[in-house]
Amino acid sequence: MIKTFPDVDSLNQFAAETFIEIAAQAIKDGGKFTVALAGGSTPKSLYQLLASEDFRAQIDWQKVFFFFGDERNVLPDSEESNYRMASENLLKPLQVAENQSFRWQTELGDAEKIAANYEQKIKTFFNLKENEFPRFDLILLGIGDDGHTASLFPFTKALHKTEKIAVANWVEKLQTHRLTFTFTTINNSSNVIFLAHGATKAEVLREVLEGSFQPEKFPSQNVELKNGSLLWLFDEKAAQNLQ
Ligand code: 6PG
Repeated sequence: MIKTFPDVDSLNQFAAETFIEIAAQAIKDGGKFTVALAGGSTPKSLYQLLASEDFRAQIDWQKVFFFFGDERNVLPDSEESNYRMASENLLKPLQVAENQSFRWQTELGDAEKIAANYEQKIKTFFNLKENEFPRFDLILLGIGDDGHTASLFPFTKALHKTEKIAVANWVEKLQTHRLTFTFTTINNSSNVIFLAHGATKAEVLREVLEGSFQPEKFPSQNVELKNGSLLWLFDEKAAQNLQ
């Protein structure tokens, strides 16, 4: 489902309300809420809103477990780190305990090792058997103007590592390894919310949502939940090219 909002504030208000609704239901059903956060700049203001007086009291954060859908191959205190952005704007303000957030341990250095370590962390947390995938209650995603999501970039190998939960991904155009969930993990979740705002996303959203199916060129087109709800939240600027 696609919902468009006049501005970022109203988009974030709705996104925060939806986040809380999903969390409250998950906690009611199973005693905890597992969420994988998006990186980049888009979700920063949503994280600040969730940690604000308006929302922070609405759920028992002690029952919330935070993961990261992707990460840059940088240390956790780097300006580039998705973990750092979420920690500064959400985890620290909410005083989330260390054992409730699971970051990619980029201090391990080698990208393949970091990915294998994170995959093992997820398997342990979700108590998964061989070839089983985690089912996150919610995965937040952003979208790049090239159509990537998480760190699943166009024409990169990770698009096809469907038997893995979390992988390293060499991104030629960035000349760096990234760390990312696979589409199998994303598509196994109960809820995915894509967040996009600003005019720079307008053309790629038209391609992804209304263009022909080219999942290598526009990887976000691979997001198709097996058994869950997919929600696209845009401001009017990002949605301006959609019919
Ligand atoms: C990252 C993100 C990435 C992001 C898009 C959009 O690590 O950068 O996970 O997938 O969502 O690149 O980035 P912006 O929100 O900064 O436009």
